Amino acid sequence: MNVGILYFSGTNMTAELAKAIQNEFIQQGIKAELVNLLTHIQNDTTPTIDNYNGVIFGFPVYGGRAPNIVRDWLQKLRGNEKISAMFFTYGGVSMGSAHYSTQSILEEQGFRVIGSAEFLAKHSYNVAPGCNLVPNRPNEDDYQVARDFIRKLLDKMQQENPQQISFEAPPERRPKRKGNKKKTKKRRRSPFPFPSREEDCSMCLKCEEECPTRAFNAQTGEADPDNCIRCMRCVVICPDNVIFMGDMSDFSQKVRSWRGLTNEKLKQLKSKYFL
Ligand SMILES: Cc1cc2nc3c(=O)[nH]c(=O)nc-3n(C[C@H](O)[C@H](O)[C@H](O)COP(=O)(O)O)c2cc1C
Ligand code: SF4
Ligand code: SF4
Repeated sequence: MNVGILYFSGTNMTAELAKAIQNEFIQQGIKAELVNLLTHIQNDTTPTIDNYNGVIFGFPVYGGRAPNIVRDWLQKLRGNEKISAMFFTYGGVSMGSAHYSTQSILEEQGFRVIGSAEFLAKHSYNVAPGCNLVPNRPNEDDYQVARDFIRKLLDKMQQENPQQISFEAPPERRPKRKGNKKKTKKRRRSPFPFPSREEDCSMCLKCEEECPTRAFNAQTGEADPDNCIRCMRCVVICPDNVIFMGDMSDFSQKVRSWRGLTNEKLKQLKSKYFL
């Protein structure tokens, strides 16, 4: 058996879980390859997945779903009834409808989704001052859940006709408008800052090369606000450590009060899997 682990990761949290998942497959005697989707997403290309008996998709949760750039990109992939599973990392705020909405896309693309998992991982905005959500995750318990998930998923993958999982559809946010009058949706820009370079640097250009939306300009040291998705990749990969994110205390306070998130509650959150 040969498994492909296709992942996207901004601050490397999903990448860490992808590695742990790969290790567990290998421990179980299964060939498992990691495929970082960054360049595929940047260049609108797709990897060859024909050789894999199963595909595991790993994404961070952005606004309660897989990131939009990932959701758009997934629509290029053809599943051809291939067995697949998903996993997500999230920063303790909310999983939203990530399982349901991503599974829906994968099924539309022809994948058979037989398992999913969610892992706590420090919030991407912890790179900014004022934000400290689930700082020490993933921890050993989270990695143990990942290992258990893979062992049980493997059993299921080896069944003759493994059952697909199902997640409850999220409640409709607002009632559907009557009639078919089309309203053009204005994109609201959030009030939070964007990362920027704050000192001279060695101009290695990594920030441009590794930006999933090509929003960062190394010369000006600024992110294009129309394209930056605030994934924080430029902040974590800059070898000179000169890219910083502005203060995110407003964000942190808002999500904490909106969801009643105390440090105690955040500590009690557990990673989980669904088969
Ligand atoms: C734009 C953005 C939106 C996010 N939305 C959520 C969210 O809805 N719920 C949550 O718990 N965490 C959210 N997070 C935190 C990430 O899901 C979490 O830190 C994840 O582990 C990051 O993984 P990565 O390093 O692989 O990108 C968000 C992070 C970013 C950058
Ligand atoms: S990654 Fe950092 S050091 Fe390299 S060009 Fe960008 S800001 Fe400069
Ligand atoms: S500029 Fe924006 S989209 Fe690009 S790596 Fe930085 S945070 Fe991510």
